[in-house]
Amino acid sequence: MTDSVLSPLDADGVAAAVAKAASAIGVATTLDDLKDVRIAHTGDKAALSLANRQIGGLSPADKAVAGKLMGQARGAVTAALEARQAELEAERDARVLVEEAVDITLPATRGLSGARHPLETLQEAMCDVFVAMGWEVAEGPEVEAEWYNFDALNFDPDHPARAMQDTFFVEPASGAKTAESGLLLRTHTSPVQVRAALERRDALVNDGRGIYVVCPGKTFRTDELDATHTPVFHQIEGLAIDRGLTMAHLKGTLDHLARAMFGADAVTRLRPSYFPFTEPSAEMDLRCFVCGGEDAGCRTCSGTGWIEWGGCGMTHPNVLRAAGIDPDEYTAFAFGMGIERTLMFRHGVKDMRDMVEGDVRFSQQFGMEL
Ligand code: PHE
Repeated sequence: MTDSVLSPLDADGVAAAVAKAASAIGVATTLDDLKDVRIAHTGDKAALSLANRQIGGLSPADKAVAGKLMGQARGAVTAALEARQAELEAERDARVLVEEAVDITLPATRGLSGARHPLETLQEAMCDVFVAMGWEVAEGPEVEAEWYNFDALNFDPDHPARAMQDTFFVEPASGAKTAESGLLLRTHTSPVQVRAALERRDALVNDGRGIYVVCPGKTFRTDELDATHTPVFHQIEGLAIDRGLTMAHLKGTLDHLARAMFGADAVTRLRPSYFPFTEPSAEMDLRCFVCGGEDAGCRTCSGTGWIEWGGCGMTHPNVLRAAGIDPDEYTAFAFGMGIERTLMFRHGVKDMRDMVEGDVRFSQQFGMEL
């Protein structure tokens, strides 16, 4: 033992050790500091601990004195440690509450969920109008053979109408033309008329089952994207082939669709036009939904009172022949309109670019269903 070892009978020395511990405890400002102080003043090598261990070797009388002295001293240090521990814990808890506070009034960052595109839901709503009348929904390829897109639809090889359609060619035809040669992005949904007629021809001719199909889908033309054009757009095509169909059936069908889309007051009109695959051909106009034909200065219809919705007509005999159907026995009508235009009219969408940009906020305005 060296001189510096504290004796359990040295009341002043013990008091000094307690005072030293107390001041170390007092200046400990963190729980980690306090832990070091606890080890230094109550651990195995602490002066008070070493003194306490000597009690066993003392005489019985000294033992009693030293025991009491050391017991009080160590009790005081333990009490001071506990008090400081409680203080520092309270401080830490208060600080953590401030530092880790969550502002529950802040707007939450939610994971965005998608929405079905209004063109998609409108397309379905238009198909439903026909499904309710017993029509079928048919689809065809977007990359189409030239024959289906043009030839079978009575476009002459050098007919000016071909130039009317600004076509994206994928693989222009070379050599002799067949039904499969030459690939392009279809410029309209009318080629599906030919496919649908070919597929259902036998049921028509053999079983007298009239052909009533609608064909919705993507179409492509080499237009620049602007407020009223997009190079990728959608059409819905209708085709009816049966005995005795007339222009009156066509007009009645279009009026029914117009009322289903735009309400009971919707009015349509047919205006003479030209398509190689219909004869007679017509443009179908809708009564202007903005001015109702009442405002000569209306910017939506340019004062005409009418807005063009789509094309239609009685299917040309050559188109029926291309599908193997005898035009002397069966007549047919067809129509096609843009789904983008329908969406613009129905919901007042002013700019087609909103439909192609893919911003989910645009779609969300329409909800999941129209
Ligand atoms: N296919 C024509 C177009 O894209 C529309 C149309 C369809 C016209 C059916 C007549 C009959 O403009």
